[in-house]
Amino acid sequence: MSIAYFNGRFVDSDDPVVPIDERGHQFGDGVYEVIRIYNKKPFMLDEHLDRLYMSAEAIALPFRQERESFQAIIHQLIEKSGLDNLDVYLQITRGMAPRNHLFPDCPVSVSMTAKPFRSIPAELREKGAKAILHPDERWANCYIKSLNLLPNILAKQKAHEQGCLEAILFRDGSITEGTSSNVFVIKDTRLYTTPLSRHILAGITRMAVQQIAAEAALTFTEKHVTLEELAEADEVFITSTTSEIMPVVQVEEKIIGAGQPGPITRLLQEKYTVRTSGAARH
Ligand SMILES: Cc1ncc(COP(=O)(O)O)c(C=O)c1O
Repeated sequence: MSIAYFNGRFVDSDDPVVPIDERGHQFGDGVYEVIRIYNKKPFMLDEHLDRLYMSAEAIALPFRQERESFQAIIHQLIEKSGLDNLDVYLQITRGMAPRNHLFPDCPVSVSMTAKPFRSIPAELREKGAKAILHPDERWANCYIKSLNLLPNILAKQKAHEQGCLEAILFRDGSITEGTSSNVFVIKDTRLYTTPLSRHILAGITRMAVQQIAAEAALTFTEKHVTLEELAEADEVFITSTTSEIMPVVQVEEKIIGAGQPGPITRLLQEKYTVRTSGAARH
């Protein structure tokens, strides 16, 4: 059975447990996280939970569950899934109440699902992906990992229809991030990525790359990368919990560097794999 959790109960993920009046369903009124589990060990769990509690607070969602008891549920879900390697999706919403925009007076809803890795095909990972450029049409609080993903979905679908893996979003002539990833550019062996602000999500994989770059004595600079600088990059890659470090070898019609994953991207991928396999401190 494919296991899930909803408000205190472990259920089959196909069970119809979410009522119509659930505010996640009615309004997308909630926040979420995606945590990858390698060999039964959640990777950077503390960082994901920090961001989840921060996101909840940012939308005034009264999620007061003690961190330890919340972590215990995540561990139970992992155990019950019977999987060693899986992705755990967590959603916290403002609960169930008759539809009304105003905040209801009811407990929040907590749901989780456990799914086997939905990884990018090995061949694509090997060759590198293509991306399109798309205006960043999202709201002004993208640092919140909110359930409202409509602009992200529309841009990603457009990318997919053009045979691309990701849409790289831009605002005022500079890139912000991908629809479900952060974007890194390498020029003359230096790494550049968009500074943290309200306009992007503070990716946990982005943080891991920053730490790995420091260990490997690579220069890491936060800067607004213009579309021209993106086109002139030696290497480009995107990062996320589920795509990890994914090389990008073409943006729109422009081939990046030599048109194949570059040496620094490869080095970072290797070091990231060491971390996720638990061989390094994280
Ligand atoms: C908009 C956006 N930016 C960045 C990321 C990468 O975040 P993380 O590395 O924490 O998965 C995601 C992940 O889903 C995302 O949706």
